[in-house]
Amino acid sequence: MKNLRNALLLKQLYQLKQLGFKYTSVSPYKKEEPDLTLPNTLEKLRKQALECHLCGLSKSRTHVVFGEGDPHAALMFVGEAPGSSEDSMGKPFVGRSGELLTKMIENVLHLKREDVYISNIVKCRPPNNRTPTPTEAHTCQPYLLKQIELVKPELIVALGATAYHYLTGDESPISKARGIIQQQKNYAIIPTYHPSYLLRNPSAKKEVFEDLLKVEKLLKNNML
Ligand code: URA
Repeated sequence: MKNLRNALLLKQLYQLKQLGFKYTSVSPYKKEEPDLTLPNTLEKLRKQALECHLCGLSKSRTHVVFGEGDPHAALMFVGEAPGSSEDSMGKPFVGRSGELLTKMIENVLHLKREDVYISNIVKCRPPNNRTPTPTEAHTCQPYLLKQIELVKPELIVALGATAYHYLTGDESPISKARGIIQQQKNYAIIPTYHPSYLLRNPSAKKEVFEDLLKVEKLLKNNML
C-alpha cells in the first residue's frame, strides 16, 4: 500500500512538474484519501491492472499483460516487460523468448507451463522494447508485489538483470549474480539469464541449464 501511495504521489509530482511547477506545498491525499489497498484476489487485482493508467506505458499498450499460471505455484518466473507478441495477446512470454522459456520449464524442470506462475516487472510494453525506466518499474511494482503475496511462491526465478535488480535492489551484473540463491523474507530468488539473451548468446544456455538444475533440486527436495 505504501508503494502504491508513493507511485500515485510520484505521478502527481510529475504532472505538476510538466505544468511548470518547481516546488509545491500541496500535500496530496491528506483529505479524503482514496482507498489505496490492492485487492486480495488475483482476479480482482488483474481487473484493476487492466484499467491502470499510472504510467506513460498505458498510452501505447494494446493489452495489459498481467501474468498467468497456477495461482498457487511454488515456482514463479519474473521477466522484464511484455514484448510485441505479448502486447498483442495480453499474455506473458508468448513470443520467441517465451517459446524458449516454455522449453526450459518443460524439458529441464520437467514441469508444465501451467504449473508455474509467470509475470513481469512491468505489465505494459515499453515502446520499441526499451528497458522500463525506474519510474515505470517502481510505479508498477505494487502489482508484482501483490501477485507474489497472493501466489506465495517458494522460489522466484528472476529472468535477466532488470527483473533481478527490481526484485532485490542489487545492481550487480547478472553474470555475477546468476545461480546464487538469495533468501528473502517469504521466498527465495534465483537470478539467471533472460531467454532473449539466450537467443542472442546460445552459449550461455549451459549456465541457465545449471541454474535450472539447482531450481529443480531445491523444489524436489523441499529445500526452501
Ligand atoms: N520478455 C519479457 O521479459 N517478458 C515477456 O513477457 C516477454 C518477453
